Amino acid sequence: MKIVIINGTNHKGSTEHIARITAEKIGGEITEFFLPKDFGEFCIGCTNCFMKAEEKCPHYEKLSPLTNALDEADVIILASPVYVYHVSGAMKAFLDHYGYRWLIHRPNDRMFKKQAVCVTTAAGGGMSSTLKDMSDSLFFWGVPKQYKIGLAVSATSWDKINSKKKKIIEKKTNSIAKKIQHKNGKVKTGIKTKAFFYLMRALQKNGWNEVDVKYWNEKGWLKKARPWK
Ligand SMILES: Cc1cc2nc3c(=O)[nH]c(=O)nc-3n(C[C@H](O)[C@H](O)[C@H](O)COP(=O)(O)O)c2cc1C
Repeated sequence: MKIVIINGTNHKGSTEHIARITAEKIGGEITEFFLPKDFGEFCIGCTNCFMKAEEKCPHYEKLSPLTNALDEADVIILASPVYVYHVSGAMKAFLDHYGYRWLIHRPNDRMFKKQAVCVTTAAGGGMSSTLKDMSDSLFFWGVPKQYKIGLAVSATSWDKINSKKKKIIEKKTNSIAKKIQHKNGKVKTGIKTKAFFYLMRALQKNGWNEVDVKYWNEKGWLKKARPWK
C-alpha cells in the first residue's frame, strides 16, 4: 500500500507522531511531507487553476511532487495541530491550491478509490473544527472513506503526553489501521459523495466555466461514465 502523510508543520510533534504510527501500522511505502518546508506558497488568487488550467498556477511545479504523491497513494493522511481552533496556516495554504479539484470543478477520478485519515492534536480544544478543515477538502476531492483522530493531549510535545492518553492513541491507531487494511481496494463511494456528484453534474450540464465543462465532457461524466467505476 502507498501512504502519503502531509504534515501541516515542519516539526515532529505529537500530531506528526500519531500520523506516522498510524501509517506504520497500516504498513507499506510511506512518503512524508512537511509544510511549509516542502511546500510553503500561498495562493495568490489569480484563478488560473479554475479558469485556464492547473498547470497555469504559478506554484504548479513546486506543488507537483506533493500532487503526484497524493494521486499515487492508496491512503492519504492529513495531519495538523490545532492552531487557534483550525489547521495551521501552512496546511490551509496547501489545501487552497487544490480548490480546482473540488467536485464543483475538476475532481480527479483517482481520488474516488482512496482512504484517508485526518489527524489533529490540541492542548485542550478545537479538534472538530480542525478535523473539518481537512476533511472538507478530502470529501470534496471525492475521497470516499475517511477516519479521524482528534485528541486533546494537554501537552506541547509527544514526550509530555501522559500514559493514559498514549493508550487511547495506541487503541485508536490500531483500530483505524486494521480497518484501512481490510478495506484496501474495496472502498465504495457513499451516497453523500454520489449525491454531490450528481448535483455538480447537473450544474455542469449548463456550466459557465468552459474548462470545467470540457473536463466533465472528456471524462464522459455527462454521459454514462462515473469516477468511482
Ligand atoms: C499558534 C498555536 C495555536 C494554538 N492554538 C490552540 C488552540 O486553539 N487550542 C488548543 O487546545 N491548543 C492550541 N495550541 C496547542 C497545540 O495545538 C497543541 O500543543 C498540539 O498538541 C501541538 O501539536 P504538535 O506537537 O504536533 O505541534 C496552539 C499552539 C500553537 C503553537
